[in-house]
Amino acid sequence: MKREINPEVCRYIGNEILPKYRQLKGHTDSHITDVIERSLKIAQDLEDINIDMVYVIAAYHDLGRLIDNKTHHIESGKMLRADKILRTFFNDEEIEIMAEAVEDHRASLKSDPRSLYGRIVSSADRSCDVNEILARAYDYNRALNPDLSEREAIEVIRLILRGKYIPGAYADKKMYFRTPEYDIFLRKVEEITATPEGFYKVQTEFNRKRFGDKTGCAKRKSIVIIGASRKGYEMAQKRFGKRHRVLRVDPDNVADAKKNFAELITDKTPIVVFGPVGSNVIPIGTEVYVTECRWLDAKLPNASLARLRKPRLSGAPSLGVPCYTNDKFVTETDIKEPVVFDKVLAYLIRDGFNVVSSWRIVSDNLSKEQFKEFIDH
Ligand SMILES: [Fe+2]
Ligand SMILES: [Fe+2]
Repeated sequence: MKREINPEVCRYIGNEILPKYRQLKGHTDSHITDVIERSLKIAQDLEDINIDMVYVIAAYHDLGRLIDNKTHHIESGKMLRADKILRTFFNDEEIEIMAEAVEDHRASLKSDPRSLYGRIVSSADRSCDVNEILARAYDYNRALNPDLSEREAIEVIRLILRGKYIPGAYADKKMYFRTPEYDIFLRKVEEITATPEGFYKVQTEFNRKRFGDKTGCAKRKSIVIIGASRKGYEMAQKRFGKRHRVLRVDPDNVADAKKNFAELITDKTPIVVFGPVGSNVIPIGTEVYVTECRWLDAKLPNASLARLRKPRLSGAPSLGVPCYTNDKFVTETDIKEPVVFDKVLAYLIRDGFNVVSSWRIVSDNLSKEQFKEFIDH
C-alpha cells in the first residue's frame, strides 16, 4: 500500500488550508499538526487505507471554527465538500467519506463515526495533557456558572471530568485506537478526581501557577474585563488581572467577538470593556466611561441605544460620554459634541453580551479631515 502522501496534495494543504487556522484565536497550528501526526501514525498500521485522505481529514477537521465553534464539525464538512481543488485529487465518493469523517470527529457526539476515517481523526484529536484539560475545563465551566462559589464550581468540574475522562467513560469508549499515553492520561484523571477535597487542591494549585495569583482564583469575581487591542489587554491585566478575568478582543476582528468568546463566557457574564479608544474632541489621555452607545445608522441590527453604567471598579473615571459608531465611524462623521467611537463596545452589545460598562482612555482624536489627511499620506 502507498505510504507517501501525494506531494501535490501536501503542497495544496500546506499552502492554502493550514494557514487559515492563523485567523483563529487560541487555536494554534500545533493542534492541527499534532492531529495530522497522530492520524498518520494510527493509519500506518492499518490495511486498505488512503493516506492522502487521512491527511486531508486531519488538516480540515477544525477549519469550521472559522465559522462557528459550536457547529464547527458540520461547517468543516461543508467547507471540505465545497473545495474545488480537492476535487481534482479525489473522486466524489472519497470527498463524501472525508466530509463525513470531519463531521464525525468530535468525541462528544452521540453516535460513532460512520467510517474508519472518522474513527482515526476522532482518536487523533485527543489531548493526553492533563494540564490542558484542567485549564480548558476550568475556563469553560467557570464562565458557564458565574454564580457558583469557587468550591462548588470546582466540584462541578470534577464530576464533569469523571463523567468524560476516567477509564470506561465516554471519551475512553470512543477512543478507537488506544495508545499507552492515552491510558496513562485517563488513569491520571481518575486519580486526581477521586475525592472532592483532593481535586479542589489540585485545581486551585494549578490555577495558582497558571494565573500567578497567591490567592488562587477563589477571590476573583465573575466579571470579565475585555481589553480591546493588545495595549488595552495589557493595561487591563495590570489593573484588574488579580481580581477579575481579563480577555482580549482584537478591534480589527471585533465582528468575530461572538465566535471568540462563546466558549469562554456566557451571554449573562457581566462585561466591562477597557482600553484605548478614538474620539473627536476629547483630549488624548482623558479617561472616560461610556453612558450610552448608539449606531449612527440603521445598517446593522439593533441600531438602537444601549444605556450603560459607570464602572463599579475602584479608580473608575467620573467623566461620562456617549459612544457613537457605525462601520466606518470617524471617517464619516462630523460630530461636534464630545463622544468616543467605541466599535468594540457596539459589537459586543449587538452580539448580545451583557456589557455593563465601558471604561476608555482616549488615544487619538482625528477629525474627519485629519483622518483623511492621515490616510492619504
Ligand atoms: Fe474539533
Ligand atoms: Fe481538534
